[in-house]
Amino acid sequence: MEAYRPYLPVTDQTPVVTLHEGNTPLIPAPAIAAQIGRQVKVLVKYDGLNPTGSFKDRGMTMAISKAKEAGAQAVICASTGNTSAAAAAYARRGGMKAFVLIPEGYVALGKLAQALLYGAEVLAIKGNFDQALSIVRTMSEHYPVTLVNSVNPYRLEGQKTAAFEIVDALGDAPDWLCIPVGNAGNITAYWMGFCQYHQAQRCAKLPRMMGFQAAGAAPFVTGQPVEQPDTLATAIRIGHPANWDRAIAVQHASQGSFAAVTDAEILDAYRLLASEEGIFCEPASAASVAGLLKVKEQVPTGATVVCVLTGNGLKDPDTAIKHSQNQLRLGIEPVLDTVARAMGF
Ligand code: F0G
Repeated sequence: MEAYRPYLPVTDQTPVVTLHEGNTPLIPAPAIAAQIGRQVKVLVKYDGLNPTGSFKDRGMTMAISKAKEAGAQAVICASTGNTSAAAAAYARRGGMKAFVLIPEGYVALGKLAQALLYGAEVLAIKGNFDQALSIVRTMSEHYPVTLVNSVNPYRLEGQKTAAFEIVDALGDAPDWLCIPVGNAGNITAYWMGFCQYHQAQRCAKLPRMMGFQAAGAAPFVTGQPVEQPDTLATAIRIGHPANWDRAIAVQHASQGSFAAVTDAEILDAYRLLASEEGIFCEPASAASVAGLLKVKEQVPTGATVVCVLTGNGLKDPDTAIKHSQNQLRLGIEPVLDTVARAMGF
């Protein structure tokens, strides 16, 4: 927030609640570029390296600071996990209470652990994210709690800083930005950031915004809400995106597109990132790379492509262990020779 203060709605009166989020690395991904098979530069924006392990921290520092400025004592959100972890951490840091509503059985273990330990009041509903969001939206209208989902405008203001960082690192905007889409807040925020920088003449071009959804939860691809969204990428298991109109506007304005990737394609990209690039992201994040590989024929030769990796792989250890092609070898005797032989020496 400090680095981009002139571009953000903060004043001297705003009590900045921060954990020093942002400034995440933009890492070259040669193995992914090689799969495209032409002269293309691919980089990943590894936002899993934020304080609570996801891009949500960028938005939450803004939303919580503004809530505190307005005198709020409690915040509320619905979440597939990452928002709840970020809301819980920043709310506690700002001396506020956090209430979170999650879909029972569909939040990755690490995210749940975070929300609990940070001290949020965590309730699991027998329903999905869309139902949870509908409840907390109404609650924020009738109870003294500030909503910090991405329908809160300050969330997007904070999240747009990732676009600034990409331009600052590359010297211009990329040709393509590939991004996983759930509630469609982040694709909207990135576009706001690129446009604002473009207006300020900090970049000469604007990227095509390529949004990727999981095939079982792809309302932007089918063109209508999905009543029973389903995907192993639980972070983007969303059927009624709250930022629908804005995401469609971004698609038109940037001449971008939406496409769906299957869970199998997501897992292939997830394993490729870890085993070839040394980058551990969560399954939903790998949708950006899976999507790029799916539409690779459309990438112009010479293009610079940035894939956004929204969350850290440690968030979801169950999926990593279950879907790794590499198996843990148990029961090895604690003897040097045995260990050396087992290692193939
Ligand atoms: N990637 C990850 C890791 C996410 O947690 C989310 C959203 C997205 C991508 C999609 O971003 O919603 O702005 O289009 N997670 C929300 C949550 C829904 O509750 O943590 P979006």
